[in-house]
Amino acid sequence: MKKSNGKLITKFKIAVFISGRGSNLKSILKNSNYQKTNYKVSLVVSNKKDALGLLIAKKNNIKTIISDFDKSKIKEKKVLKILKINKIHLICLAGYMKILSKNFIKSFDGKIINIHPSLLPKYKGLRTHERVLKNKDKFTGCTVHHVTKHLDSGKIIFQSKIRILKGDTAKIIEKKVRKIEHKIYPLAINKVLSNY
Ligand code: GRF
Repeated sequence: MKKSNGKLITKFKIAVFISGRGSNLKSILKNSNYQKTNYKVSLVVSNKKDALGLLIAKKNNIKTIISDFDKSKIKEKKVLKILKINKIHLICLAGYMKILSKNFIKSFDGKIINIHPSLLPKYKGLRTHERVLKNKDKFTGCTVHHVTKHLDSGKIIFQSKIRILKGDTAKIIEKKVRKIEHKIYPLAINKVLSNY
């Protein structure tokens, strides 16, 4: 990122990968407008053509790619090519429900991050809030971490936690956790990119 008189003149380019609602994409975009933010969203990739997040991308004039590329090497190659052509510095998975291939992760080594709705290393995988409740945990939260070939196991970048209150259901916890996700994901992106 270049600076002139203390002002940012170019920002790092990120691609956000989604599969659904895109509320994290929305908060990442909102924060990208702040002057001190060191990134801009250049591309949104979705494996689903009807992902609601695509509407958010279009509204913000962000280029979109729809590709379910996880089972096709040719499609994966095409997506990688587009990411390289667009000079993407960092890929941010935000509710992306596919597992990236080892080859894909290697191509963007150390430059893919993800947000997960639990306090990793606890509760990797799906249905995190249900498991938190079942185990009667007192706290839960969310984690932004680097993506490696091992699911939800990469180095932790940022975590935020909330207390579980009496009467909280999985739905209530999901809502509360999503709220803190929206705060920490933009901060984590800035943190990672500030080391570039
Ligand atoms: C978030 O809860 C995130 O932690 C998980 O998927 C959800 C995506 O939500 N990986 P949204 O599409 O950003 O609203």
